[in-house]
Amino acid sequence: MTTRAVVIGCGHYLPARIVPNAEFAARLDTSNEWIVARSGIERRHFAAEGETTSDMAAAAARMALQDAGLVPDDLDAIILATSTADLTFPAAATMVQDKLGMTGGFAFDVQAVCAGFIFALAQANALIIAGQARRVLVIGAETFSRLMDWDDRTTCVLFGDGAGALVLEAQPGTGTSDDRGILACDLNSDGRHRALLYVDGGVSTGTIGHLRMEGKEVFRHAVEKLAETAMAALDKAGLNPGDIDWIVPHQANIRIIQGTAKKLNLPMDNVVVTVQDHGNTSAASIPLALSVAKARGQLQPGQLIVTEAIGGGLAWGAVALRW
Ligand code: UT7
Repeated sequence: MTTRAVVIGCGHYLPARIVPNAEFAARLDTSNEWIVARSGIERRHFAAEGETTSDMAAAAARMALQDAGLVPDDLDAIILATSTADLTFPAAATMVQDKLGMTGGFAFDVQAVCAGFIFALAQANALIIAGQARRVLVIGAETFSRLMDWDDRTTCVLFGDGAGALVLEAQPGTGTSDDRGILACDLNSDGRHRALLYVDGGVSTGTIGHLRMEGKEVFRHAVEKLAETAMAALDKAGLNPGDIDWIVPHQANIRIIQGTAKKLNLPMDNVVVTVQDHGNTSAASIPLALSVAKARGQLQPGQLIVTEAIGGGLAWGAVALRW
């Protein structure tokens, strides 16, 4: 018998403050037209003062637990994908554990920037397959607004805050690609490209720092590597692009999303798009998109989903799963 990590609930949280492109155009040399044309972003949410990554993660987690019909102590583990933990340590996942009132199990963070949720899903899958956990809450949550250089028009218009969460449960499968749950994962990183997207602060500098990005270069890597990793995950699952019901891509730029769909030979009708409303929320973008797509009625049980992301590191990967 094969054990599969099956999604049994999802949820998301967006901070109340919505910031339209016009707010940037009012104080920077930019325009709504430029931001929409180059990125597809129309608005994003920013966390309130004092609102932290673990606050947003806990809110998304509560919705996911409710969706799954579970209480916190039904979980064995929490994995939180984030690059914007509340504090340098402890792991923000342990703060979420406490905020949920979960007293058993274990919780830890995964840091792979915008690819963080893919890496976290792969970790949850491995824990479930190894029999170390039966139910794992996997969260992506970020407050990238705290990392912005507000004078840098090439980055500050692109990012937003938010959180999304999935509950995964061990269920028996047949070992074929007809099973529900995670079918295959493909993870990659290449530290030679670390200077393309990074934060110029941290423990070694004694500052929080600001996000720096060579956008054009990251774009070039993204279009090439996202289709490759999606294909690799499909291949490992014994599937091909024609089997995909939904691509749920990292929501960084509509042109990257369109380019990847084109390489996979899929129409945009098969792609979940939320970038216009959320901007780039880094590790939160995929679980946010999944939860929003479910609320829209786009995702049906049994459908094949391929989700993929790339970000700082560079780190990139994809997961093929049956909803
Ligand atoms: O989540 C992690 C992964 N991150 C990404 O996937 C982001 C990848 N990169 C991108 O999404 C795009 O490269 C950007 C949206 C960042 C930029 O789009 P682009 O088409 O690559 O534009 P560009 O960087 O080539 O800039 C074109 C022009 C430049 O002016 P010049 O040099 O041609 O005179 C920029 O200075 O647009 C200028 N520009 C802006 N103009 C108005 C850059 N930012 C802005 C802005 N408003 N906000």
